[in-house]
Amino acid sequence: MYTTLKEVTQTAENLNMTIGAFNAHNLEMLPEMIRAAKEMGSPIIIQTSVDTAKYIGFRVMVAVARQLAEDEMVDVALHLDHAKNFDDIKEAIDSGYTSVMYDGSQLPFKENIAKTRAVVQYAHKIGASVEGELGTIGGTEEGIHVDEIDKIYTSPDDVLEFVEETGVDALAIAIGTNHGQFKSKTEVNIPLLKEIHKVTDIPLVIHGGTGVKEEDYPELINNGIRKFNVGTELLVNWTKEAKECFAETPVNKSLRHNVIPANLAVKEIIKHKIGLFMNVNSPLKVAQ
Ligand code: 13P
Repeated sequence: MYTTLKEVTQTAENLNMTIGAFNAHNLEMLPEMIRAAKEMGSPIIIQTSVDTAKYIGFRVMVAVARQLAEDEMVDVALHLDHAKNFDDIKEAIDSGYTSVMYDGSQLPFKENIAKTRAVVQYAHKIGASVEGELGTIGGTEEGIHVDEIDKIYTSPDDVLEFVEETGVDALAIAIGTNHGQFKSKTEVNIPLLKEIHKVTDIPLVIHGGTGVKEEDYPELINNGIRKFNVGTELLVNWTKEAKECFAETPVNKSLRHNVIPANLAVKEIIKHKIGLFMNVNSPLKVAQ
């Protein structure tokens, strides 16, 4: 079923698991991403940056994701990642994206609240979900660099006010992760996550999932992470595989010989991640 972020994170809450939110960089990889979720028996969030949505076309992206959800019988939410501009958000929602992230994390707190609330009001009228962000996540995203020095961890004191005032359906938090970190792993601040989770039961979101150690997943999930973003790991491995294939394949052979192995590399990573995201060794409800 083509569904919303709110629905799939509720499923995650009920089962004490997290839902993988995987960045699609082109349409080629999309069918195998959704088939990975089908084979694992999990919902999936497909997300695109604004630039990728514009490259593919918002309505095209929606049509393909919706059709694949139906054909493969998988719960798929289509989410716009890190949007800062209301026109882009409106276009995504009007085109049929079921969820958007409004990223006001660089704004003063009150302005972040006001702008996020305006997005929530628009989205909820149409039944779309909204993810907000508090604190800043390090690294690079679509070429914009966030210096270590500019990184602000999410303050638990701000969380309740932000969630109540904005009405968001999920909250991205800064607890030490970085976007685009694929050569090393980060130290996630688990005590800070626990403090945040203590003040709210809003589904929490990890950004920069590529740089998170897999051994940290259970603690993250057991403390309220219900959406887990992974982008760079897919991008890097799709590109590596495609590069090798393009180097070996005669120029007059079908493009399938270059693209299918890259799509399958992405599928295997997603299956592996979902297997961990299902958090099978944990109790369904964590004792408080
Ligand atoms: P990575 O590309 O570092 O996995 O992060 C993905 C993400 O958080 C998208 O918003």
